Amino acid sequence: MSASLIGRPLARVDGRAKVTGTARYAADFNQPGQLYAVIVSATVGLGRVMDVAAAEVERMPGIAAVITHRNAPKLPYLPHRAVIDPAVGERLHVLQEDNVRFYGQPVAIVVADTLDHAERAATALRVTYETRQPLVDPADRRAEKIVPEAATRARALADRSRGDADGAVAQAPVRIDETYDIARENHNPMEPHATIAAWNGDRLTLWSKSQYLVNEQAEIAAVFGLPAENVEVICPFIGGAFGTSLRTWPHVTLAALAARHVARPVKLVLTRKQMFFTTGHRPRTRQRVALGATPEGRLTGVIHEGMGETSRYEQFMEALTNVTDYLYSCPNVRTQYRLAQLDTSTPNHMRGPGDASGIFALESAMDELSYKLGIDPIELRRRNEPQIDEAENKPFSSRSLMQCYELGSERFGWARRTPKPRSMRDGRLLIGMGAATATYPAFHAPASARVRLLADGLAEVEAAASDMGPGTYTSMTQVAAEFLGLPPEQVRFRLGRSAYPQTPSHGGSWTMASVGSAIRAACLEAQAQAARRAVADTRSPLFEASVGNLEWSAGHLRRRGEASTGLSYQDIVARTGAPVEAEGSAQRDPEVAERYSMHSFGAVFAEVAIDPDVGTIRVRHIVGAYGIGRVVNPLLARSQCTGGMIGGIGMALMERTVLDLRDGRPVNAHMADYLMPVNLDIPKLEALFVDEVDPHVNPLGVKGLGEIALVGTAPAIANAVFHATGKRVRSLPIHIEDVLTA
Ligand code: MOS
Repeated sequence: MSASLIGRPLARVDGRAKVTGTARYAADFNQPGQLYAVIVSATVGLGRVMDVAAAEVERMPGIAAVITHRNAPKLPYLPHRAVIDPAVGERLHVLQEDNVRFYGQPVAIVVADTLDHAERAATALRVTYETRQPLVDPADRRAEKIVPEAATRARALADRSRGDADGAVAQAPVRIDETYDIARENHNPMEPHATIAAWNGDRLTLWSKSQYLVNEQAEIAAVFGLPAENVEVICPFIGGAFGTSLRTWPHVTLAALAARHVARPVKLVLTRKQMFFTTGHRPRTRQRVALGATPEGRLTGVIHEGMGETSRYEQFMEALTNVTDYLYSCPNVRTQYRLAQLDTSTPNHMRGPGDASGIFALESAMDELSYKLGIDPIELRRRNEPQIDEAENKPFSSRSLMQCYELGSERFGWARRTPKPRSMRDGRLLIGMGAATATYPAFHAPASARVRLLADGLAEVEAAASDMGPGTYTSMTQVAAEFLGLPPEQVRFRLGRSAYPQTPSHGGSWTMASVGSAIRAACLEAQAQAARRAVADTRSPLFEASVGNLEWSAGHLRRRGEASTGLSYQDIVARTGAPVEAEGSAQRDPEVAERYSMHSFGAVFAEVAIDPDVGTIRVRHIVGAYGIGRVVNPLLARSQCTGGMIGGIGMALMERTVLDLRDGRPVNAHMADYLMPVNLDIPKLEALFVDEVDPHVNPLGVKGLGEIALVGTAPAIANAVFHATGKRVRSLPIHIEDVLTA
């Protein structure tokens, strides 16, 4: 058998389609007779719709319908809750009531023959409101801080404690006790949310941007009171998502509702501005981290209290303080998580959800402690490296954090760093070097896949997954080719249809582990079926051979130990007619899951150059070293890491959604003022992977890579800013003013 395909730098199999423009995204699936819908968003932060002057715009050219809560049908909204939905509260029911719960809530939808006509009427539509004062500032004392009633995911815990953290911190000879703030961020992928809805009787087809097709199918079926099989969701390509397309947001319902109302297919694309209203955001957080340590740098007590914003109608939770439970060795640890309920739309997972925010606080505090102790920041982490997950009292399935620090510091040149803040210069620029730990759970969710071996020698592989950019088309092609023993050119991997075998959400860095393992299982099942056919076929040279005496080698079946070429899938299928079709599914063995704590780890290094006169902060170099189990494709893995680092640069230095505290309006809901890194902001980015074999996580040995690539970058940059300037900034994004003021 040829060398393993897993681990090879296969170029993206969909690369040509993407660069030549033949890849079709949701909004590209124009339907015959299609009309265009535009959402009218509330321009007040809290209140009631008193009047909508629909008649005035219904006479405008090309208008097919103006739909408001007055004439919208009452939708069944049957109960539906996916694992990615908040566990407490109820989703927004669009156009079902006159209440306005937050600025930007859809209050009407206009349908017209052209986008231009729909936009003109939507702009002209006069809506009058009764308004009340919304509460949108989590720092406001009136914002109720609540204990979350239930976890979204089992690991998002409200309160956790071992030992006596408060006592230990109070008595510690060396202490840090600080507060860290992170601004609201919006995902802002290049591709806007888009849905084209078409009804055929009581069957609905949605071409819709989604990271979770089978959930969109189930949710829209529940909203309209249909059997799930009446709804099909199609989404072969995604132009970035970062979590914003995990949930099925109100616009999907609005598109389907409008299409039914006008009895024509309807296309609805959100504007960039509308993507700041109802499609989730990384919640604003405020965190307190208190550390107690011995003079030798052993942690004696750790307290991590976090607060995140949520809406009034749902309790969005993320794993804000979880990292603190297992990252370092300490007998006394207390973590706490609270929610501030505000008159705002519900937040959502955004790349590295919870962990990226939580680790900024913890890794900033660890850096502060290292200076206070006069111990190298990496050495401080080494002195607190745990032998096991002390929160769960379980061994890690694998943990290569210290190898990551060694590999990364070598490449980065950490040895060049002089410990004292403001001690490194390049001409008049202040140079700073910082490091931080990254970590993310190695999740695995039940998934299934189908393999079809065709008479022409091709293998078709299907799963209802999405590919928001990590290269799922390519990595899954590699896995299928590997386990079928075929060259990748003979594998056609398809995703992006809800009718394909079920997969979990394309998020949480679990697609490779979950869908990959399912494809492996389906391939092995297809091989078993092909072998059974070969021995049952009277014309086959393997007729009546015992299956146990046969072996597969490079896609050929032969008697074990025999030198013959054997029979290819094509030989077997062509002789016996119908394609071989097999389904496979995979999930993590619950016993193994119970026995081990499973996480990826990494070490991130950043170098910044700061102009001491005008305060401009430039990231010069980032090195990330990661222990993520097996790397399926080093090209894709590197691309994931650089993308995540760029997200981390944005989090550290640029990204923030600013709300007008009078009405909750995002004042920078456009790409001119919501700053994100552009090419000039992106320096040399290097991703390294330690050799890590993890036999426990799943049969592929992969731990997932999407999220961890962002986690750790912001604190590494913030720590570098301190090293450069001696100025500790505990609020993201870091601004010029922060480093200029004394
Ligand atoms: Mo990721 S935030 O689960 O798309």
